[in-house]
Amino acid sequence: MELHAITATSRHRTDCAIVGVYEKGLLSSAAVAFDRESGKQLSRLIKQGDVSGKLGDTLLLTEAKGSAARIVLVGLGSKDKFGRKQYRKALQAALSTVKKTGSVHATSFLSEETIAATNAYYVGRTTAEVAAQITYRIPDLKSSKKPTPPPLKKLSIAVLGTTERSQAEKGLQHGIGITGGMSLTRDLGNLPPNICTPTHLANTAKELAKAHRSALKVRVMDQAEIRKLKMGSFLSVTAGSDQPPRLIVLEYHGSRSNTPPIALVGKGITFDTGGISIKPAAAMDEMKYDMCGAATVLGVFKAAASLKLPINLVGVIPTCENMPSGSATKPGDIVKSMSGQTIEVLNTDAEGRLILCDALTYVRRYSPKAVIDIATLTGACVIALGNQYSGLFSNDDDLSSALVNAGKRAGDGAWPMPVDEEYADQLKSNFADMANVGGREAGAITAACFLAKFVQGMKWAHLDIAGTAWLSGANKGGTGRPVPLLMDYLINHK
Ligand code: BES
Ligand code: MN
Ligand code: ZN
Repeated sequence: MELHAITATSRHRTDCAIVGVYEKGLLSSAAVAFDRESGKQLSRLIKQGDVSGKLGDTLLLTEAKGSAARIVLVGLGSKDKFGRKQYRKALQAALSTVKKTGSVHATSFLSEETIAATNAYYVGRTTAEVAAQITYRIPDLKSSKKPTPPPLKKLSIAVLGTTERSQAEKGLQHGIGITGGMSLTRDLGNLPPNICTPTHLANTAKELAKAHRSALKVRVMDQAEIRKLKMGSFLSVTAGSDQPPRLIVLEYHGSRSNTPPIALVGKGITFDTGGISIKPAAAMDEMKYDMCGAATVLGVFKAAASLKLPINLVGVIPTCENMPSGSATKPGDIVKSMSGQTIEVLNTDAEGRLILCDALTYVRRYSPKAVIDIATLTGACVIALGNQYSGLFSNDDDLSSALVNAGKRAGDGAWPMPVDEEYADQLKSNFADMANVGGREAGAITAACFLAKFVQGMKWAHLDIAGTAWLSGANKGGTGRPVPLLMDYLINHK
């Protein structure tokens, strides 16, 4: 969808105007103008009780008299509470209604309202995210004919002044780049695990590098090369699978070559059965999403390259399946990680940390400014935070608060959790340097403590996205999170 910011209020010709009404029939400023244009039609509808002003309620007026062929009236809720979330919800509801009409060009006036705790730039970015959400199609494999896409091609958002217009324009452009990355992240997550294999992720990385030839480089390593790197922990996870594993290394150069990079490490388990510690059957299909950390790294690289961010990035993706078989790793097996530390695998379902630890050791060669790993790591994190916040674990307070703030601004939150030394006691083993599990209590934290043993001397953060990367139930599908958080961090990185 084409996105623009404009300063015009009335007389701007459009197929559909989106205007807001607050609770108690309080008209927004644009609604007042349209009310006048239409000979008090809006006021009459409110008096009749057709418009409640409840957040997200919509009413479509066709054959509107004036500059817009149609008007979508959308409820904005209480005027004092109108903020970023409310803006998102109202615009989303309005565009869902617009989408069902024949409108090719819609103009939203919601962006002229006072939106608490944000600015024109973020209004632009949020708008682009909502537009992308409305147009996103799951790459489904249904054999029926695809429904014809809605005619809506262009969305203009009205803002008050020319300064706001250029800020909103910038937000829209950044939003377009970010949502381009999010769509890739979502697509990869949504694909079935027989298609989205480690090889498929590697091919996707190669395609990305081809599309951004000058700035992006990729190297894909196979099992023999992974063995040469002595990644015994990573290899223990792929041992039961017939799909060959891959180690994908991406480099993005947007800054001088001597600027140390930020490293992103993504968990790429393309299917997690649990291995010999096999998972129960219920909802096991959702373990196709266990590569969403990897998909996030690919989405961020796509977005960063398309926006030409002036930074350097390294992305490392260890990817394989976790399967049971005669050759699979068994509970009690001891493996040696690339760092030299030995691990007693007490539960083969705690496999994410086993592939990540070797990838974290690998990024040391880049002397990164910061390392951020992204992983659908623990069910315990979902129990702790649900699907609102990603879990955030870090050994560096500045990095942690930079990520918290980026999440707040981007509307893609992460909540800080402790990684204190005391919790690491739960990982003690009689037979190896550590066990790969630390019992039921504080499961998300002990998983982070395990990773912390491999990043000493580096500034590190870990995002546990087990609750945020996808939705279950009727709306089952990838969310594209935490691409907005990470992009916000990278855009504001100094
Ligand atoms: N991929 C799962 C984590 C997961 C589970 C994410 C459910 C989203 C929903 C991970 O590999 C896993 O199985 N973790 C185990 C760890 C346990 C064995 C210590 C878990 O969370 O149960
Ligand atoms: Mn698992
Ligand atoms: Zn897993």
